[in-house]
Amino acid sequence: MKTQVAIIGAGPSGLLLGQLLHRQGIDNVIVERRSGEYVLSRIRAGVLEQGMVDLLREAGVDQRMDEEGLPHDGFELVFDNRRVRVALDELTGGSKVMVYGQTEVTRDLMEARAAAGATTLYEAENVQPHDLESDSPYLTFEHNGEAVRLECDYIAGCDGYHGVSRQTIPQDRIKEFEKVYPFGWLGVLSDTPPVSDELIYARHERGFSLCSMRSATRSRYYLQVPLDEKVEDWSDDRFWEELKRRLPEEVAQKLVTGPSIEKSIAPLRSYVVEPMQYGRLFLVGDAAHIVPPTGAKGLNLAASDVNTLYRLMVKVYQESRIDLIERYSQTCLKRIWKAERFSWWMTSMLHNFSDEEDFNSRMQLAELDYVTSSKAGLTTIAENYVGLPYESLE
Ligand code: APR
Ligand code: PHB
Repeated sequence: MKTQVAIIGAGPSGLLLGQLLHRQGIDNVIVERRSGEYVLSRIRAGVLEQGMVDLLREAGVDQRMDEEGLPHDGFELVFDNRRVRVALDELTGGSKVMVYGQTEVTRDLMEARAAAGATTLYEAENVQPHDLESDSPYLTFEHNGEAVRLECDYIAGCDGYHGVSRQTIPQDRIKEFEKVYPFGWLGVLSDTPPVSDELIYARHERGFSLCSMRSATRSRYYLQVPLDEKVEDWSDDRFWEELKRRLPEEVAQKLVTGPSIEKSIAPLRSYVVEPMQYGRLFLVGDAAHIVPPTGAKGLNLAASDVNTLYRLMVKVYQESRIDLIERYSQTCLKRIWKAERFSWWMTSMLHNFSDEEDFNSRMQLAELDYVTSSKAGLTTIAENYVGLPYESLE
């Protein structure tokens, strides 16, 4: 089997890259370890920056997003019994975000790919990249019980944090940067109307909480929990009671509770690998970096990597600009580190790091009070939240 770009992983990174390349006539094959249904069963992020929305439009998958997505021009920060609105559009000269679940983005991209007749091989086992430093790399794997060799010009490693791509790079050719936080997020999805029209990020002595949504009838809520907490120990009742205790009285009173349709705990981590390329292999999205979810940046960073690799590939194939290949990693990393900083900062400012009221908690309150009472402070939050501009390749 032969293609121009072999893509490992059918998450949002792989599917979006595949769709954009396909529309430019660049042939690609996606090889995914899981089934399509499994990929769609994962509940992940839900806030899209304008840059990602534009990229989805360019990929031709904007119809359902425009019909069902919820444009948001602000969100709330809650701390010290105060509620402060961050007016995204006013502070940034008109930028907004779109609340539309990653699951829906993935579904739209899968359908568009199927309609375009591009190849995705699901349930591929033992995917392995080879000869990455040569001009003719290839993948080997097993599909439907048969051994397959997929020859290509380039390989996009879109296989997430636990994927094979990054692990293929010799250890002495990369450097990893990591910060692990001493807590996780317990998330609940429920078919209940959201407690507020806008997202609420709340700092509380009992721990951080977030009120988010997927639609006018579906809510997504999160609680900061210790890392050793088990999902089985969190009945729906316990979750709702704890959430109410962490929200301002008038918000808690409005909260509509109901049975959870998904409940899971995710650890929080900051991680970056440098560089994001090795020979003809490019790492994209979660394969190269992880952010804690507090800034809603994970999915959006994946989209900005895709944007960079897509534009680079178009220049390589349509203008023979092979020289640009070496710029992939440095171009992506500039924006990634800024999003890492924002996610780390929001996490540091809003979570409970100690059981006692200590110096750190006073610093958090002073910082929240300062940034929310200063136009410059609010602008810093707003312009990072809506997404910093995409870096250009040249
Ligand atoms: N072979 C083939 N496919 C693999 C392999 C492998 N060895 N390892 C992992 N995969 C697949 C996974 O099954 C998954 O479908 O790669 C895909 C990676 O998808 P994601 O983990 O969703 O990563 P990505 O596409 O980069 O999505 C961006 O940013 O912060 C997050 O929530 C956000 O999940 C989103 C991510
Ligand atoms: C979500 O809706 O899942 C969500 C929203 C905002 C975040 C993180 C997660 O910062």
